[in-house]
Amino acid sequence: MNLENEINKDKLPKHLAIIMDGNGRWAKQQGKLRAFGHENGTKSVRTTVEACAKLGIEYLTLYAFSTENWNRPKLEVEILMKLLISSLKKELKTLQENNIKLHAIGNLNSLPTSVKKELLEVIDKTKNNSKMTLSLALSYGSRDEIINAVKNISEKVKNNIISIDTIDESIINQHLYTQNIPDVDLVIRTSGEHRISNFLLWQIAYAEFYFTEVLWPDFKEEELIKAIISYQNRERRFGKTSEQIK
Ligand code: FPP
Repeated sequence: MNLENEINKDKLPKHLAIIMDGNGRWAKQQGKLRAFGHENGTKSVRTTVEACAKLGIEYLTLYAFSTENWNRPKLEVEILMKLLISSLKKELKTLQENNIKLHAIGNLNSLPTSVKKELLEVIDKTKNNSKMTLSLALSYGSRDEIINAVKNISEKVKNNIISIDTIDESIINQHLYTQNIPDVDLVIRTSGEHRISNFLLWQIAYAEFYFTEVLWPDFKEEELIKAIISYQNRERRFGKTSEQIK
């Protein structure tokens, strides 16, 4: 049986967010260096992005590098940055062919100039694509994002651009890195860890969670489909009773 046929195309998560975890352990299992795991992780990034676009998912957000990841050994950080540049160069074609718009969330100013330059170039070249928005979370931390939003809103209150009484969810949303992107419907985390790790804390308020033991380099289309089927079998009540949403 083809697993993909089990998916209800009318009930897809509009926004899927993935915490890609387990590259290091995957490499270790094969007696290889962590870099080998990250390299193979980029292959899963490609297959997942293509599969999401093919299925019709509108927003995909990938946690590629957290604010906390700067604390990793210098060499590993350098390898991740190099991989990012080479992936951006290599995958521009894939993004164009699949009509995917690239977006980035996080403190982009803290990225090395070469990464930021490549990133902004690909964002610019794909800005008119419309099938799917792929957001890369880079030097991203949700608390950092919220602090940044509070500062920007405060500045506007101080300058009489916003009055305190009008501050609501929509104003907060407009000041997050995710601005015009809808709330997350489904979060997937690989590698058997059951944590959120400072990822999209505001945006996941009503998200469903899917945890899998599979390590990120082994995460392929079939795993993605399993996660979506699991999501579709859940009842999302948003605080209401089961009867109210029927
Ligand atoms: C987690 O594995 C993964 C990361 C910190 C980075 C994810 C990066 C990639 C998949 C490659 C580059 C990204 C793009 C978008 C091209 P881990 O190192 O935490 O694994 P471990 O928990 O087993 O040590």
